[in-house]
Amino acid sequence: MNNTIKFLKKTVTVQPEIGLILGSGLGVLAEEIENPVKIPYDEIPGFPVSTVEGHAGQLVIGTLQGKQVITMQGRFHYYEGYSLERVTFPIRVMKELGVKSLIVTNAAGGINETFTPGDLMIITDHINNFGDNPLIGPNDPAQGVRFPDMSTAYNKKLVKLAKEVAHTLEIPVKEGVYVGNTGPSYETPAEIRMLRFFGGDAVGMSTVPEVIVAKHCDLEVLGISCISNMAAGILDQPLTHEEVIETTEMVRANFLSFVKEIVKEMN
Ligand code: HPA
Repeated sequence: MNNTIKFLKKTVTVQPEIGLILGSGLGVLAEEIENPVKIPYDEIPGFPVSTVEGHAGQLVIGTLQGKQVITMQGRFHYYEGYSLERVTFPIRVMKELGVKSLIVTNAAGGINETFTPGDLMIITDHINNFGDNPLIGPNDPAQGVRFPDMSTAYNKKLVKLAKEVAHTLEIPVKEGVYVGNTGPSYETPAEIRMLRFFGGDAVGMSTVPEVIVAKHCDLEVLGISCISNMAAGILDQPLTHEEVIETTEMVRANFLSFVKEIVKEMN
């Protein structure tokens, strides 16, 4: 961690206040950043390296809507073989660099049958279905408490702001509970029925570990899912990563204006 922070502080002179994690197919937002400093993950000491298609794998640091931001263009997934501690390492780095708020985005399958592929969903809560937790192991009290409260993991003020922004921009958004699964296999129809019964609205393979760590180190979190497909068994068609990427590209314009306006209005 010390190496990583030393390197980044030397490379980047601005102090980021907002962190952004851009999910599959949503990385284009990083191209809107002014005076960007782009640092591929494999050039950062101590950083894991991402492997999956559709993830560029770099930090982009600069100005967005007048705010100093640090963006992960591509994230690390548990299914790639990293421990949850490694998956969430960049959150700790952001905290060390002075970040106060985190916007996490992802592509997710719609469990809620009133959703349509292409919908944006503000995450109001999550279900950790990883069977693991990034905080397992010794706790460093300098980072956060042993037993963090998760009852307000998704910041109410930011949810309210996101809803207001959506209303102003006339972008229809849904709200709901994100279920985090390990992947990499998609769910079975039976698993989706179970997750619906448990209260899930959307399902994906990320975000939950990052939000747990963000909450542990006291960052304000806003989560946005792009519903890239209906989850298994809802439609009579197979699920593919290509469909996920195609849909996220389709909603690109709405996603970009939505997140940019939220960043502009955040304080
Ligand atoms: N399931 C799990 N992860 C996903 C899905 C899905 O249907 N779509 C995008 N990521």
